[in-house]
Amino acid sequence: MDLREFLKELKKRGELAEIEEEVSPLLEITEITDRVSREGGKALLFKRVKGYKIPVLTNLYGSYERMKMVLGVDEPEEIGWRLYRILRPEVPNTFLDKIKKIPELKRLNDALPKVVRKGKVQENVIEGKVNVLDLPILKCWPEDGGRFITLGQVITKDPESGIRNVGLYRVQVLEEDKLILHWQIHKDGSHHYWKAKKLKRPLEVAIVIGGDPLLPYVASAPLPPEVDEYLFAGIIRGEGVKLVRGKSISLEYPADAEIVIEGVVEPEDPLVDEGPFGDHTGFYTPKEKYPFMRVNALCFRSEPIYLTTIVGRPYMEDRFMGWATERIFLPLIKFNLPEVVDYHLPPDGLFHNFCFVSIKKRYPGHAFKVGFALLGMGLLSLTKYVVVFDEEINVRDLSEVLWAWGNNTDPKRDLLLLKGPIDVLDHASEELGFGGKVIIDATKKFKEEGYRRVWPRRALMDKETKRRIDQIWERIKEKL
Ligand SMILES: Cc1cc2nc3c(=O)[nH]c(=O)nc-3n(C[C@H](O)[C@H](O)[C@H](O)COP(=O)(O)O)c2cc1C
Repeated sequence: MDLREFLKELKKRGELAEIEEEVSPLLEITEITDRVSREGGKALLFKRVKGYKIPVLTNLYGSYERMKMVLGVDEPEEIGWRLYRILRPEVPNTFLDKIKKIPELKRLNDALPKVVRKGKVQENVIEGKVNVLDLPILKCWPEDGGRFITLGQVITKDPESGIRNVGLYRVQVLEEDKLILHWQIHKDGSHHYWKAKKLKRPLEVAIVIGGDPLLPYVASAPLPPEVDEYLFAGIIRGEGVKLVRGKSISLEYPADAEIVIEGVVEPEDPLVDEGPFGDHTGFYTPKEKYPFMRVNALCFRSEPIYLTTIVGRPYMEDRFMGWATERIFLPLIKFNLPEVVDYHLPPDGLFHNFCFVSIKKRYPGHAFKVGFALLGMGLLSLTKYVVVFDEEINVRDLSEVLWAWGNNTDPKRDLLLLKGPIDVLDHASEELGFGGKVIIDATKKFKEEGYRRVWPRRALMDKETKRRIDQIWERIKEKL
């Protein structure tokens, strides 16, 4: 599937609004997208963008329905269980079991990215003098430091191992052929950059717009550095992503993408000011130093579509991408922590501020053990507040969360103050990227945990009374 096929499907299902009014890429597309995406509305195709022939597409991922269409499943957790089975394969005992495994191995093989000789994305190639402002790149908010590409898949390779990384990082236009790469310190792209700089080697970069709509999503997924995001996409689709080799760089990128910007970050180039940018915190992130790439080629399909997004105070389009990630990664959390029942990263907390987790508590200190483990796991390590609940609490229901949290905790005993890495977008921490964290144990306490009183029983109706009332309930309901 590519972006155009997906748009056809959206149109058929009434999920796409085609905007005919002329609008500017400077602020106006944000204002319209903001009004629509807050309500979880349709995807928006702006067909007449002032000063450009290229249409702009926003809010593509902006509903549960469309996110499910992108992933090709009704329950994103299914994808997580697929990964779980790859990580923890059942050992086949009998000959028949072994035979049954063959299609599974074949499926994994089919999921590998495949390099092909020709790709639609190279229908048009401009090498040498490139002006990225030929693309309708948006200025999102009034005090933004410039124009930003916000849904670009940023491809780099580890200069030592050669393992590919694809990250969704915003990219600011510095000059017509220079782009600033906002890969934050905790992200794999940043790791590749600092390695290359140390080795005094140029780092090749490809910024990809479009292709299968699954691809920008996988670029945003917090996969471990050793896992290629395009292999992950292949596992989800059951078919390998088709890649072509770059024109001016040796990186491969999706053959059916809409647009690719190729370039190189030179190790001797200085870091430059990036930002400010109206971010998904709802605030402007201030200027910080980031590297820039020198653009040396622009490739695009004929009549390309420019895919982008707007971020701001929740809820916006990224809410649905975050939801998919939360659900897909639950089975992988259970892989490491089988006592975990469920978890929730509320979008109101920008996914990294709060983590509510429910567990099957078995021993004293169990809640803290789970809290520590989560704070050591990938990007969950950036969480500020981890609150641990008993298994019967629905952590996705804020009313239940606050009820259990308030009732079951004595802050003096159940709150653990820690420190560690903090999301660099956080403006409250004393230092950029480093600050305080809290684990709160909101589970029922054991006496070994310092609870000397008798934990109360929940006031719930008995089964017999419920059964009796059930028998007369329909008649009572008629009077209500
Ligand atoms: C719309 C959107 C914009 C994002 N912008 C950035 C960004 O500018 N910088 C960044 O480091 N992460 C950004 N992220 C988060 C990363 O995409 C995410 O952390 C991803 O897991 C990084 O990939 P990596 O682990 O391969 O580095 C953004 C996510 C979304 C959904």
